[in-house]
Amino acid sequence: AAASEFVVVANRLPVDLERLPDGTTRWKRSPGGLVTALEPILRGNSGAWVGWPGVADTALEPSVEDGIDMHPVALSAQEVADYYEGFSNATLWPLYHDVIVRPEYRREWWDAYVEVNRRFAEETAKAAAEGATVWIQDYQLQLVPKMLRMLRPDLTIGFFLHIPFPPVELFMQMPWRTEIVEGLLGADLIGFHLPGGAENFLFLARRLLGHQTSRGTVGVRSRLGVVQVGFRTVRVGAFPISIASGSLDELSRRKSVRDRAKQIRRELGNPKKVMLGVDRLDYTKGIDVRLDALHELIAEGRVDPAETVMVQLATPSRERVESYVQMRGEIEMTVSRINGEYAEVGRPVVHYIHRPIPREELIAFFVAADVMLVTPLRDGMNLVAKEYVACRSDLGGALVLSEFTGAAAELRQAFLCNPHDLEDVKDKMEAALDQPREDGRRHMRAMRRQVLTHDVDRWAKAFLTALARDSVAGAALM
Ligand code: G6P
Repeated sequence: AAASEFVVVANRLPVDLERLPDGTTRWKRSPGGLVTALEPILRGNSGAWVGWPGVADTALEPSVEDGIDMHPVALSAQEVADYYEGFSNATLWPLYHDVIVRPEYRREWWDAYVEVNRRFAEETAKAAAEGATVWIQDYQLQLVPKMLRMLRPDLTIGFFLHIPFPPVELFMQMPWRTEIVEGLLGADLIGFHLPGGAENFLFLARRLLGHQTSRGTVGVRSRLGVVQVGFRTVRVGAFPISIASGSLDELSRRKSVRDRAKQIRRELGNPKKVMLGVDRLDYTKGIDVRLDALHELIAEGRVDPAETVMVQLATPSRERVESYVQMRGEIEMTVSRINGEYAEVGRPVVHYIHRPIPREELIAFFVAADVMLVTPLRDGMNLVAKEYVACRSDLGGALVLSEFTGAAAELRQAFLCNPHDLEDVKDKMEAALDQPREDGRRHMRAMRRQVLTHDVDRWAKAFLTALARDSVAGAALM
């Protein structure tokens, strides 16, 4: 394939493995938010996407899908265990989410992380044209910026972190902390969701690298937004991600969706109030928090299980990582306990589904829900909160939202709660259930204004425009 002017690098390719009725499989483009936002830019610049197809030991040929050059990076089963499940999701993920579970630091996982990051860098170096712009995504690939710069100093390199960047006190646990910070500093621009994450990183860079070393000056001077690494300038900024809010708004207005939403309420037994949770099954999401809160509200007589139901849609995720297995067991135990105590035959209090849900069905659930429960203990952004808002063109519904999400910085009219304070969560859930209609409409209108004017296109353009500053090649992209 011809070399590309714009290359996206992410752990996953935007494809899903589809099983056909005859037992064979094929690859299908998956309509994630990121690929939707970047599609026009990718197409307009004979763009390429470098990523893992999501299945071990599967060598996929490079192919062109809808004008995007797909460059698959193959991972062995051992690499999936060590790089993906191990270092990415049992070391970095918990460390960056406030150590909610204890991160494991294993040398063989780190070695695999270095090795796989190198493979991504090499594949990207092959895909990129002279002077191209490369945009690397997320915590799985933090060493790629530096590795790629060594291979290809001609490239303009951006990096965006989709999860929180932790405070220095926590990050300092990492045995390979210097390598990771140096890896990131290979980029020209490093993006975070919130100014707080950018500040954490700047502080850390100064702390770790801002001094003379025996090998000369690796001097790093950082001021707000800029790290000076030798003669290079690395910019650091906040770029809160969003969703394709316009198309979601449009979809949610469709008759088929509205009819399905009504049908869902009937299937639930026409309760007065429907509460909804939609998450990857992950211990950061605080699914246990909202279940515990509901349990106590019922026990205290503040919520009547005869008229209020909760639906928890949980997408299976990282199912071979130990902490996920454990969390799943605990959640399923709590669901059974609540139903055991308060359900009637044919009328559960908590409806729990642990399967992937088709997009259109999900939108119908958003439209059907009176109260949306988003209660993570820590979340970089949380797009579910924004999706719910985008789907409520009827100005109905209420959002209970954890303060510990990036979305809380934008959705100020939600019922904001501290997920560590169970009484607060209960109060906010109760207030959301009892919210007067006019107040609800006013709050929803304000939140919709924010989400509809700040969509994922705007996010991508803001990042790429900042990246293009000081770069002639980059400017030509937009
Ligand atoms: C988070 C991460 C993404 C990741 C996604 C799904 O949003 O920031 O990088 O792709 O979770 O997780 P998975 O491990 O299935 O890719």
